[in-house]
Amino acid sequence: MQTNFIIRGFGHYAPERILTNADLEKIVDTTDEWITTRTGIKQRHIVTEGEAASDMALKSSLAALAEAGLEPGDLTHIVVATFTPDSMIPSTACVLQHKLGIKGQMCIDVSAACSGFLYALQTARGYLTLDPEAKVLVVASEVISRRTNWEDRSTCVLFGDASGAVVLTGGDEGETPRVMDMKLAADGSLGDLLSVHGGGSAYSYKLGEPVGEEFFVQMQGRETFKHAVRNMTSICEALLEENGVVKEDIDVLLTHQANWRIIDAVGRKFGIVPEKVFSNIDRYANTSAASIPVALSEAVKTAFIKPGDLVLLTSFGGGFTWGSALVRF
Ligand code: COA
Repeated sequence: MQTNFIIRGFGHYAPERILTNADLEKIVDTTDEWITTRTGIKQRHIVTEGEAASDMALKSSLAALAEAGLEPGDLTHIVVATFTPDSMIPSTACVLQHKLGIKGQMCIDVSAACSGFLYALQTARGYLTLDPEAKVLVVASEVISRRTNWEDRSTCVLFGDASGAVVLTGGDEGETPRVMDMKLAADGSLGDLLSVHGGGSAYSYKLGEPVGEEFFVQMQGRETFKHAVRNMTSICEALLEENGVVKEDIDVLLTHQANWRIIDAVGRKFGIVPEKVFSNIDRYANTSAASIPVALSEAVKTAFIKPGDLVLLTSFGGGFTWGSALVRF
């Protein structure tokens, strides 16, 4: 069985256009002070007209491939995590494959909201277990601005657009960065606490009818907050225990970037000092599935994560879905 899962390259991309909290003050009844103290967010990147999830995915993928020293044609599988795909059909993975100028690979989209990247990474580990020679592109790309109700101040201040990618291959014992182990979970009974129902087959649409609120992100923030902290903490504890790792061994905690208070709460529960907790939420806001690979790519490129570090990843999102991963750099 394949046991070495090596990340050969990291890439990330965010659109040039930036929307600050001050900009939002002109759109909805909010303040920079409210957003900053409640979430830690100062700005978010927003796509320009015509820019889709696959366009951002192309940019982050090319960066990850370049770092891996691979050509698009070397890939065997493309796994895209997104809840904001270009279209219902074709999958964004197929669109990305075409934009990469390649054919033949297995292409699949994974839907697990903000946990999408970890779910996609686990999917990639499955393909590598079946075929140790596989070279899997794992990309998360989210255009949440097009699924944002810009009249709802309780959600529109929270999200941003971005993409992050990694290339995963097999490797020899001792090679790094190595995904050591992962754990994923979900609880579908809580799905309505964070949803985008519009566009799905549970709703019927008629040509020419306007879309309703269900077309956009709807969230019960306070409830989501509680479940996020509780589930990320418990799944991390379970992963550490199963791997014989103690909290003191963790060099960097990198969580889904939804809200600084959630990140901080998870860090505190683990007794991890803030200096070891990576966060870029101030600059990106919540980019859903893209948040972990964007943060990982930045943390590696800025040397926040150093060779030899043991990094604990954890995510939480709609579904509800959540997960954790241990990566040795
Ligand atoms: N600006 C100003 N006031 C706002 C506001 C905004 N953008 N959004 C909401 N408010 C108001 C509310 O109307 C409410 O007013 P009221 O007390 O007069 O009714 C008040 O602020 C408090 O709202 P509440 O929703 O209780 O705030 P909160 O402290 O729970 O913070 C979130 C709200 C959304 C920041 C927080 O709940 C959160 O981050 N939740 C988790 C989000 C998340 O992680 N989602 C993704 C998971 S993947």
